[in-house]
Amino acid sequence: MRIPEELIEKIKDENDIVDVISENIKLKRSGRNYLGLCPFHNEKSPSFSVSSDKQIYKCFGCGETGNVVTFIMKYRNLSYIESIKYLGERININVDLENKDPRKDRKSRLYEVSIESARYFFNNLQKQKYAKEYVVRRGISETTIRKFGLGFSLNSWDSLLKFLRIRGYKEQDIFDAGLIIKKEKGGFYDRFRNRIIFPVFDYKGKVIGFGGRVLDDSKPKYLNSPETLIFSKGTNLYGLNFAIKNSNTRTFIIVEGYMDCISLHQYGITNVVASLGTALTVNQAKLLKRYADKVIISYDADLAGQMATIRGLEILKNTGFDVRVLTVPQGKDPDEYIRSNGKEAFINLIDKALPLIDYRLTRAKQGIDFNNGEMLIKYTKEVTEILKSLDSVEKDVYIKKISEDTGVKEQALYDLLNNEINKISVNNGMIKNEESYNVKLYVEPAYLKSERSILKLMLSKEDSNLVSKNVNKDDFILDSHKKIYDLIIEYRDKVSEDIYKYIEARCDDVESSKEWISIIELELLDEEVDKQKLIKDYLNNIKKYRLEESKKEIMQKIKEYETKGMIEESVKWAQRLIELQKEIGRC
Ligand code: CTP
Ligand code: MN
Repeated sequence: MRIPEELIEKIKDENDIVDVISENIKLKRSGRNYLGLCPFHNEKSPSFSVSSDKQIYKCFGCGETGNVVTFIMKYRNLSYIESIKYLGERININVDLENKDPRKDRKSRLYEVSIESARYFFNNLQKQKYAKEYVVRRGISETTIRKFGLGFSLNSWDSLLKFLRIRGYKEQDIFDAGLIIKKEKGGFYDRFRNRIIFPVFDYKGKVIGFGGRVLDDSKPKYLNSPETLIFSKGTNLYGLNFAIKNSNTRTFIIVEGYMDCISLHQYGITNVVASLGTALTVNQAKLLKRYADKVIISYDADLAGQMATIRGLEILKNTGFDVRVLTVPQGKDPDEYIRSNGKEAFINLIDKALPLIDYRLTRAKQGIDFNNGEMLIKYTKEVTEILKSLDSVEKDVYIKKISEDTGVKEQALYDLLNNEINKISVNNGMIKNEESYNVKLYVEPAYLKSERSILKLMLSKEDSNLVSKNVNKDDFILDSHKKIYDLIIEYRDKVSEDIYKYIEARCDDVESSKEWISIIELELLDEEVDKQKLIKDYLNNIKKYRLEESKKEIMQKIKEYETKGMIEESVKWAQRLIELQKEIGRC
């Protein structure tokens, strides 16, 4: 059976490697990656590293490498197809039935209804003067209207429904897309009426839902699409599709609202996404983790906003982000602030965003009267709670600061803190891991890298011919490299596809899948070098390895003949060894 490539893509896309591996072995965050004990060799200190950015794993102890499919193949001892099925099931896709799966058709129909509606709303806004005026009054430019596809739903009960019906869309699909509501007595009416429409895109830029804002002060201010087959609020971030296109930074800003996000983008701050009012979810944090390591959270300064900030902070911290908090002064939201103070002023706020600890300490201080003993005790308790998790250098810094700030003696803070820590260490028995050094690194033979480099060169259009003119399949030692060589040649007749996808889908055994990832990961030297010479060097390395291997064999033989007393034979082989040694020297 041949599984369609798009389906394999989708299954890989939706099975996050960190999730899948953590279901099987324990992983701990370590910088940008996750670390654990390698399941493929015996070890006591972790050298198995999983990268969420790259969606691959690599063991520095034994050299195992791969993507999520490779992992399942090796770990569960399944074939390629079985692994795809296994991962498919994990996300509720039945691989066998996929072609007939009604859900897939339904989904694509919902996407279609949604984009069609977005176009309709967009045209309405262009035609309805009072709606357009509202948008313009809020400082949104024509370019921004187009970029974010802003629209308007007419003040009518069924204009969208009628429009879509004429276009041949079925009521059931329009309903499933959340665009119409069922009447009690049968029939349907438009969900969005007389509202500015904000289409919601997924990270790939597909329209998956809508938000609609009233033009005045009536309630509810915003109405959103319900959860549908294609729209799940908690697993999406508004503006992410634009943010990943335009930003070359791994720092992202999270705001609450549509307007905040749009405004910042319009002012040229494009690494911004909105969580759309709801408290940030774990899934949103994970989605963001693919694109960012540092997050600046900028929610409203009101109490609700602060609470949402705190909850969001916890989730972001646990997902492994470096988290900062940006507070907008004068109780404004980011949209209002940037419109009245400009881009530079907002960038200033970004630069001044507080690290998590400072934000929490600032909050703890709010409303405390330091002359009031009871309040002071409550405050110091809260502070020790916040400082508990820090290392000793950080603690020193903060305790000094707090003491200067509040007049509480440093020693008093240390005493409280030590009390807290002693409590914990008794509870947990304080297990300390002292095995972390002493890790042996796996060193690969040089020929492997040379073979990979040749294949990597072959992947580039310019160098592909040069390589195939100079290198034969049999020059490779590793079978999986021979296979990939053939695939690259084979691909030349099918230029319409993406070569990476083409090959990845065909590296369907553990070895070739592992090698393919290693080839992708490999970074070649700069462009300047003479490619012809480079290829010669690579081939030389491979040859040298072959010769070294024969040398080992010959030495083994000589030893055997000597122990058996077959002197003549042994001398003959010793001569051969000398020749070989010379040849190696020439490499
Ligand atoms: N929200 C919602 N339903 C509401 C109110 C708010 O879904 N009744 C969501 C919206 O996604 C909104 C976000 O929460 O964008 C933040 O709310 P708010 O700060 O009130 O909205 P703004 O985006 O600032 O909108 P505006 O500036 O137009 O008032
Ligand atoms: Mn606002």
